[in-house]
Amino acid sequence: MEELVITGGRRLEGTVTVQGAKNAALPIMSAMLLATGECRLRRVPHLQDVSVMAAVIRSLGVRVERSGQDLLVTPEARLTPEVPAELMRQLRASNLVMGPLLGRARYFRVPYPGGCAIGSRPMDLHIKGLMAMGAEVTEKQGYIEARTTGLRGTNIYLDFPSVGATENLMMAAALADGVTNLHNAAREPEIVDLQNFLNAMGARIHGAGRDTIRIEGVKELRGCNYKIIPDRIEAGTFLAAAAATRGDVLVQDCQPGHLLAVLAKLREMGARVIIKKDAIRIQGTGRLQATDCKTLPYPGFPTDMQPQFMTLMAVAEGTSVMVESIFENRYKQAAELRRLGADIRIEGRVAVINGVPALSGSVVEASDLRAGAALVIAGLVAEGQTSIEGIHHLDRGYEQLESRLRNLGADIQRRSEK
Ligand code: UD1
Repeated sequence: MEELVITGGRRLEGTVTVQGAKNAALPIMSAMLLATGECRLRRVPHLQDVSVMAAVIRSLGVRVERSGQDLLVTPEARLTPEVPAELMRQLRASNLVMGPLLGRARYFRVPYPGGCAIGSRPMDLHIKGLMAMGAEVTEKQGYIEARTTGLRGTNIYLDFPSVGATENLMMAAALADGVTNLHNAAREPEIVDLQNFLNAMGARIHGAGRDTIRIEGVKELRGCNYKIIPDRIEAGTFLAAAAATRGDVLVQDCQPGHLLAVLAKLREMGARVIIKKDAIRIQGTGRLQATDCKTLPYPGFPTDMQPQFMTLMAVAEGTSVMVESIFENRYKQAAELRRLGADIRIEGRVAVINGVPALSGSVVEASDLRAGAALVIAGLVAEGQTSIEGIHHLDRGYEQLESRLRNLGADIQRRSEK
């Protein structure tokens, strides 16, 4: 097992380049199951989650090759519509193969997916939507099985704008007979990216990024060449780290328009933010100030930035209140931050954070991906040495995090745990 060892107290300075978005790559890799020819996906990050998704689609009958930042994917004419349990349990996003499998093979049998331990994360919205399109779905012994004689377009209202359900249903509807209108759809930039990718394959989809997405089914989708969007959560994590260390960092190759809620909070907390066309410069001007924050579906404040902001609040001047409205169990980082000296009280979905002047280094454990990111930022500002265990979670979503932070001046090393 490996750990990250950070000696805190250094300002981050310099330039960092953002990689392709993990949460755009995963659904798009799944959408490639729908293609009849070769797809080339560009700017694909080297991440554990991407490798697991590659293994998932390979197991379904798809040839996947890596060439630098590109992924070359060619589906076989006939797919094997069953995912092995050990792969499915490694990655929640593996549930995104359901929509394409049903659209293309008219059948799937998959185990309930795994992923970060941040809440119960049911699949009811995915299943209700597929049933509305004409699928017969059964759930037994930990498996979801579905079959159809042919999906048909319909009107679907999502009770909640779930990102994964929106993506699965868009993909299922792309080859359905007729028009599907997806109401109360998620509006995340990754949904827009999936629409653009599917349309590059020949789909007819409009409205992603708004409440209602209209999907006109087509007979066939062909291969294509596509570059995915930059990772807004990775960009946000570097911005938060820079602000926490009172640094001066240019985060380049990002889309500032995808980060408006995060940038607003950073400004409220006192950081200086300069927005350029495809870059953001952030300057920490002094101690951060407390603020309040509630996670919401996009364009609200992202739940995937909540743990990192909890660290900022832990060292800000004054008392901050955080409300996590997306996941019911996403404050695992709080107990670890307390070990570093943070003053955080949790009551259900509400966290009250009294900022302390300084954190002090200790041994902590990352329980999931973004909680790990929160601990890295805490280590960067803490006095003395912080060791972070459980860093395989970080490798799921951040490419070469420690070397990129080192380039910005951080004192951070990866070591094998004794
Ligand atoms: C995606 C992101 C994840 C992010 C999350 C919310 C990917 C690969 N992952 O996850 O990083 O944290 O969006 O922005 O893109 N829900 C139901 N029933 C369902 C589906 C979801 O109740 O059928 C609930 C979930 O339990 C959760 C909420 O809806 O409380 C949001 O989940 P959802 O938007 O589906 O998240 P994911 O797609 O899993």
